[in-house]
Amino acid sequence: MFSSSTRSIPETRSVPRHLAIIMDGNGRWAKQRFLPRVAGHQQGLEAVRRIVRASIERGIEYLTLFAFSSENWRRPPEEVGFLMNLFMAALEREVGKLHQNGVRLRVVGDLAAFEPRLIDLIRRGENLTAENRKLTLTIAANYGGRWDLMQAMNGLALAYPEKAGSYTEADLEPFLAMSYAPEPDLFIRTGGEQRISNFLLWQLAYCELYFTETFWPDFDAAALDAAIESYRRRERRFGRTSEQLASSAGIVPSVAELMKK
Ligand code: IPE
Ligand code: IPE
Ligand code: MG
Repeated sequence: MFSSSTRSIPETRSVPRHLAIIMDGNGRWAKQRFLPRVAGHQQGLEAVRRIVRASIERGIEYLTLFAFSSENWRRPPEEVGFLMNLFMAALEREVGKLHQNGVRLRVVGDLAAFEPRLIDLIRRGENLTAENRKLTLTIAANYGGRWDLMQAMNGLALAYPEKAGSYTEADLEPFLAMSYAPEPDLFIRTGGEQRISNFLLWQLAYCELYFTETFWPDFDAAALDAAIESYRRRERRFGRTSEQLASSAGIVPSVAELMKK
């Protein structure tokens, strides 16, 4: 079990241990170039390759990418179809390389909505890479934060019906889709919108949020470094005061210590 940001103080590192990204702006990237929206998705896949590589190089342990939300079914059927085919082609082409590079692949979301061939590719990719630990790459597909909370609550209620009425956070967490990962330290959204769009609602409780105007297909290692630099400058207080943080670093004595003198 990983430490919970609401029940204990997670360790803060200079490089985020878990980075979660809403990859947004593919359509606008394409429109800017008078290309069809799907050309932006195609180019977005290149950015995924770049950021996976850059994440490994920087020692990030968990990278979570929002690829398709539970609300994205509302898009024109041709675009949805293109995204499904792109996902399948990417799995067919990339899983071997991910495996060679020590990447564990996980896909979270309501997979039941996908066609059997895609589900099969996902399962095979997950099984092949299950033992890898260099980087855990999670693709959120047909994922929604509310879906995740509801499936976890239902799972918990079925597993421990006798405890209904007194469930705790710790009871729920093992049932969340990403229970294998610590909470994200840094969240990035590209494309200029400043919203969560039903991404990891539970897990973002104490995450540092970073928004950039850069469209996802243009997001590169330098853009990632700018986000990490911003993250480094944050003071992660988790409810405490600045003075307490300084004192726990040994700079300022705590009130308790001052009282003793
Ligand atoms: C993000 O880019 C990719 C997906 C949601 C699949 P968009 O397709 O949302 O791009 P914009 O926001 O329309 O520019
Ligand atoms: C969020 O992007 C989902 C993904 C990146 C997969 P959207 O572009 O769908 O978000 P909204 O609907 O504009 O908030
Ligand atoms: Mg968008």
